[in-house]
Amino acid sequence: MKVLVTGGAGFIGSHIVDALLARGHEVAVLDDLSTGRRRNLAAEAIFEEIDLRDRSRVHELIARFRPEVVCHQAAQTSVSVSTREPVRDAEVNIVGSLHLLDACVRHGVGRVVFASTGGAIYGEVPEGERATPAWEPKPLSPYACAKLSVERYLDAYRSEHGLVSTVLRYANVYGPRQDPHGEAGVVAIFAQRLIAGRPIRINARREPGDDGCVRDYVYVDDVVRANVEAVEGRLTGTVNVATGVPSTTRQIAEGLVAALGVTPTVEAGPRRAGDLERSVLEPDPSLGERMPLGEGLARTAAWFEGDAGGA
Ligand SMILES: NC(=O)c1ccc[n+]([C@@H]2O[C@H](COP(=O)([O-])OP(=O)(O)OC[C@H]3O[C@@H](n4cnc5c(N)ncnc54)[C@H](O)[C@@H]3O)[C@@H](O)[C@H]2O)c1
Repeated sequence: MKVLVTGGAGFIGSHIVDALLARGHEVAVLDDLSTGRRRNLAAEAIFEEIDLRDRSRVHELIARFRPEVVCHQAAQTSVSVSTREPVRDAEVNIVGSLHLLDACVRHGVGRVVFASTGGAIYGEVPEGERATPAWEPKPLSPYACAKLSVERYLDAYRSEHGLVSTVLRYANVYGPRQDPHGEAGVVAIFAQRLIAGRPIRINARREPGDDGCVRDYVYVDDVVRANVEAVEGRLTGTVNVATGVPSTTRQIAEGLVAALGVTPTVEAGPRRAGDLERSVLEPDPSLGERMPLGEGLARTAAWFEGDAGGA
């Protein structure tokens, strides 16, 4: 199949590209390299350096490549940037996505897979509960508002134009190639700092010195599998891509310390304004076995150790 992966030079997108190529698909990548890196790009993928905000170039690429499926991973991914610059966030994440959807309709793309966020869309998840797609969304940041708005546009494009789509709501994704500035940057940040012998800081959930916020950390390979299922048409609707397992920031630190065999200096940081205390999602039953946290952290730590730019 011909698949266009937007954001295919980024952390998650580049792993999706590798998996699609390995399955024999023809892959083109649209990416402006704002946070993505050339070195993540598979040589067999066609690469187009295009900004999603550039409507005519987005249309021209889709008209020329004629993908059957568009896997839309490109985004302004920083929640804090979205808070400081909500207009820029909306220009990329809403208007840029609409350029893509319009081009899909115009040029007969059969299906769109959209990388949304479960980590940000559900808001605070009470103790003992897991958020499901049936929950009323409570987006608290401009980033989450933009993701939810594209989900709604996809509904509209489905009913107006028959454009088929799958919405994948990711929990906090971690793994090799992660940039330390994304939504789940803590794994990458801690791995880099521990390898360099620098202190790590656990920001408080409530009071400095506690175990930090609770998140649902999902390994990138599990996210890739969900995307492959969706691209190949076996996964539709709105789906949580998650583990359902709550983990604190301290557990992340401990897993990485064990994997790296280092003696860390751990500092107690304050509570960060705007941080959710707890976010855990009910994983979609179709996702199958997920990577256990300890093994995922060990694989991630090994990658950062071997990565020349990592330390
Ligand atoms: N990492 C997570 O935990 C997480 C959680 C929920 C959702 N997501 C979503 O998953 C997707 C991939 O995120 P990631 O973690 O791999 O981040 P990333 O920053 O590594 O990837 C985003 C990619 O999009 C590209 N991009 C950004 N703005 C662009 C623009 N205007 N035009 C073209 N390309 C542009 C970047 O260069 C980069 O390659 C994003 O849509 C993100 O919102 C990620």
